[in-house]
Amino acid sequence: MKILSLRLIVALILGVTLVSLASSWYEVRTTKDSLRRELESKAETLGQSLAANAESNLLAGDTARLQQMVERSNNRDHLLGIGVYGRDGKPLVETPGLGPLLSGAPNLMADALAGNRTVSEFVRLGLKRTHMLVAPIRTADNTVIGEIVIIQDATYIRTEIIRVWGRVFLHIAIQVLVIAVITFLVLRWSLAGPIARVAHWMKALRTGRHAVQPTAQDLSLLSPFANEVAPMAESMRQARAAAEAEARLRNTNESLWTAQRLADHVRKKLDGNNLFLVSNREPYTHTRQDKRIIVTVPASGLVTAIEPILRACHGTWVAHGSGDADAEVVDTHDRLQVPPDDPRYTLRRIWLSPEEETGYYNGFANEGLWPLCHIAHTRPIFRMSDWEYYNKVNKKFADALVEEIGGEDHPVVLIQDYHFALLPRMLKERLPNARVAIFWHIPWPNAESFSICPWQRELLDGLLGADLVGFHTQAHCNNFLHTVDHILEAKVDWEHFAIERNQHRSSVLPFPISVELIEDHVDGEASANAEEERSALLLELGIEATFLGVGVDRVDYTKGILERFRAIESFLERFPKYQGKFTFIQIGAPTRSRIKRYAEFQAEVRAESERINARFKRGKWKPIIFQNREHTHDEVQRYYRAAHLCMVTSLHDGMNLVAKEYVAARSDERGVLILSRFTGAARELHDAIIVNPYDVESTAEAIAQALEMNVSEIVDRMRRMRKSVRERNIYWWAGSLIGELCELRLKQRRTKISVISRTQAER
Ligand code: G6P
Repeated sequence: MKILSLRLIVALILGVTLVSLASSWYEVRTTKDSLRRELESKAETLGQSLAANAESNLLAGDTARLQQMVERSNNRDHLLGIGVYGRDGKPLVETPGLGPLLSGAPNLMADALAGNRTVSEFVRLGLKRTHMLVAPIRTADNTVIGEIVIIQDATYIRTEIIRVWGRVFLHIAIQVLVIAVITFLVLRWSLAGPIARVAHWMKALRTGRHAVQPTAQDLSLLSPFANEVAPMAESMRQARAAAEAEARLRNTNESLWTAQRLADHVRKKLDGNNLFLVSNREPYTHTRQDKRIIVTVPASGLVTAIEPILRACHGTWVAHGSGDADAEVVDTHDRLQVPPDDPRYTLRRIWLSPEEETGYYNGFANEGLWPLCHIAHTRPIFRMSDWEYYNKVNKKFADALVEEIGGEDHPVVLIQDYHFALLPRMLKERLPNARVAIFWHIPWPNAESFSICPWQRELLDGLLGADLVGFHTQAHCNNFLHTVDHILEAKVDWEHFAIERNQHRSSVLPFPISVELIEDHVDGEASANAEEERSALLLELGIEATFLGVGVDRVDYTKGILERFRAIESFLERFPKYQGKFTFIQIGAPTRSRIKRYAEFQAEVRAESERINARFKRGKWKPIIFQNREHTHDEVQRYYRAAHLCMVTSLHDGMNLVAKEYVAARSDERGVLILSRFTGAARELHDAIIVNPYDVESTAEAIAQALEMNVSEIVDRMRRMRKSVRERNIYWWAGSLIGELCELRLKQRRTKISVISRTQAER
């Protein structure tokens, strides 16, 4: 930095000096020329007037008058001497001292006589710089009868020039000083400071210590540099975590799944074939903000879970391009490479018309299938037109997939979720050699509940086009097998959890989805950081509280947010000592807001938080902070790390990744999870405080239990939950799903269903 500052300052000084010198040199020259011209013209005027006056006196030989004339004129500024000479060059009249001065002068007098013209020149006489003018004295008929010599002192011109240069150098010196000081200060404030902070941050990342990311202002100053450094730092962090995980794996012989292990495993399983993934929601959305295009990661559990897999395995992700600037960043095949800062895989975007989006996504998927599968007391709505759009859009995705797959012999296709129940069949009919799995991320209801859907047979038929149908839990698999048994003509193999229909076999198996758990802190340091994080967050929110709780959800009626708020209200009533002390921060990402029920629900959540706040709040404390906007992954992590407890109170949920994300974020082994028994996560995270969210009073007691739990119990519970998430992480999920799918094809050629038994599954 010092060398850079020095170079910059020296370069600026040199530049400024050169420019100033060049312009000053020009100014000096002009001054010098004008002074010389002024002196010349004064001499010429004097010479001509004296020559005119001298003519008659010379003709008359009146040297006395000539003498008088010369003496009268000799008292002017800078005049050194005047002399009058005859035709033969002999002096007639001279001012004192002129004779010796002229002895070394050039022969201008002879030139003037010979040429009958005035001659003048700047000449050096002795040690003096002078100007010498010789003017001929003529008669009326232009006959030269003598000449006049005028010598002027020119040294003052040099003195003046030296003075001008002196002024110039003083200006340059002042400019240089000002520039040096300003440059130094600007460098120090704008560059050296941010660079030092970024360097400090990078050092902390390199050495694995907790590091607070520099401010956006610091990073924006170094933006091109920061654009590279931030992802590099993140890659370093991930690489370190992976290396540590690998090391632990070697040391403890644990079978821990990492991105690298998944990549190796999938490469082996795919055996040269490619991976294709389909979901409605895209992993990156491009939108316009002012005149810039910005990229965001949508708030979706599905995206959180799937993204690390594609990063590890490459391949192609086909999804709906829903951002208003999505079309501006794709190539001619509607593809782009993502993640934007570290491209690893291809994203192929599918465009939907507003009618298609309304019918397929808002209508059939989210007003029909979503409430059908979630038993959360919102009635499903089935419209014929929505069903038609659902068919049409599934076909559109099938076309795009076939195009992406091209001539591949055995592509592996992972279809995600309830938006694409018809896609497995459509795809299999066109690409019988493709290995196709569909993972249903939401619950599957019991057969009776499902049977209210007018297109139940078509949906099941579409799903059974897949070789593998995955759910989060065995209970959902069982519900699905029962539903097929109830509705379709098919053989259900309860021993192997498979369905055989029209010579095609579909396995139906549980794969509990998860998140990535990165060990990045040592205990003591991390718990100190939780305290710091808490104080910083409270300060930013402008509130005072001793205990913090957090909830992170899309504002969806299945998430039990109203029940949660009522439990907080009941907790404050029953344990009044926590009034003024416990604050719950609800991060609520707006979702599906074009659907009436969602818009209403969002308003209900806001009204309920306001009602409870109005009842209890005092001073700088209030019980609920409802942050109804999207939050980035990093922002959410701060809340997770700062909160004493996290509440997941879904009324019904396939898995719920917030529960696992909270556990993954607590590397300090602190924090208590309150978890609804109606989530898939409750089947794995037994050390959470398991609640029935409909039972408001016992959920209120769970909050008190969490806040009063002693540290060793908190640590024990969190440690066990972390072990579970660490061992069955997202890489394990993907590895098992893809591994099973690739295996199935091999089994399928040899195996015939021989035993049909319900006992195992029903147990
Ligand atoms: C949740 C569900 C996923 C579903 C996603 C869709 O994360 O668990 O099963 O795919 O929501 O959310 P979206 O915002 O795309 O409608």
